[in-house]
Amino acid sequence: MIMLGIETSCDETSAALVEETAALGTGSGVRPWSIRSNVIASQVPIHREWGGVVPELASRQHLRDICGVVERALEDGNASWRDIGAVAVTQGPGMVGSLLVGLSFAKAAAAAGGLPLVGVHHLAGHIESLVLENGELPLPAVVLIVSGGHTSLYLIGEPGRYELLSRTRDDAAGEAYDKVARLLGLGYPGGPVIDRLAKAGNDRAIALPTTRLTHVDRNAPELRGDLDFSFSGLKTAVLRYVNQRRGTSPLSDQEIADIAASFQRVVVTALVDRTFAAARRFGAKSVGVAGGVSANSRLRADIKTYGDAREIPTFVPSLKLSTDNAAMIAAAGLRKLRAGITSGFDINADAALPL
Ligand code: KG4
Ligand code: ZN
Repeated sequence: MIMLGIETSCDETSAALVEETAALGTGSGVRPWSIRSNVIASQVPIHREWGGVVPELASRQHLRDICGVVERALEDGNASWRDIGAVAVTQGPGMVGSLLVGLSFAKAAAAAGGLPLVGVHHLAGHIESLVLENGELPLPAVVLIVSGGHTSLYLIGEPGRYELLSRTRDDAAGEAYDKVARLLGLGYPGGPVIDRLAKAGNDRAIALPTTRLTHVDRNAPELRGDLDFSFSGLKTAVLRYVNQRRGTSPLSDQEIADIAASFQRVVVTALVDRTFAAARRFGAKSVGVAGGVSANSRLRADIKTYGDAREIPTFVPSLKLSTDNAAMIAAAGLRKLRAGITSGFDINADAALPL
């Protein structure tokens, strides 16, 4: 069975073909799905000019790209419409105008082909990207989802069940990278450039605050709160430092590298500390990281070092699967389809869809 996956929640138009290759529940290490194609049309050059994603431009570009991207996914996957068994699509969260383009396309394709439609949560997709490449994770697993829109910890006790443990109270980690890069004049997106510059910087050059929350969030009383993240204070501290420093003379390249490295150390330390605190608390047999920021070189290295020291296997997606893509959506869709869950043609895009 081949699943067509479609993802248009943010600034990537993506379509993928993912094939079932083993029965689910075969055990850890056996990959249940394999990627036949995964086509991603990035809109980054369009949004770069504005310093961030412009929702109206994003949805219009998805509309221009979606047909060509799907055709290319079929071609790359050596398949025709007759080979497709079901259609999975990101239903939310994301920008509603963008989500609607993918969702409308998926509904039309499923209706025309008489195929099942499966609405997928974007973060379930990021989590399943780990299974796509590694087979089922040893459970229970603690997975950190860290992107431009989300920074959350999930506990996976059984395959396909995702329990929220904590999330950011303010900015997502990727959002903090993007904002700090902007104030340093480094362009959009900020993550990759800060990651690169940080390699030449001293990560202790500037003292920046670490936020550790201990109290319950009134907006989420069901969570304990002490595993939550917060990055807006850090961003403000960088802003204050840069403004003070620029008052005297322009920043040198070395100072920019030092700021990048110091900022990155605080972000990555917070992410890694809380992820392993959760792993300890819930007796995790594995730890995963997914989402755009999982492409970060220091985060990838530190997660592995921590995991090795504690003898917990750690899983991080390949670079191609860490940022938004449709293969992960097809994988999450196959999981739901095999659990007997499909969607009606009346499902709507939901910018704040709960997992
Ligand atoms: O998952 P993603 O592609 O889209 C969202 O769902 O948000 O993540 C994009 C985010 C951006 O904020 C970008 O700056 C960040 O991931 N990012 C990185 C790196 N590569 C991308 N952050 C830190 N280091 C990187 N190497
Ligand atoms: Zn994402």
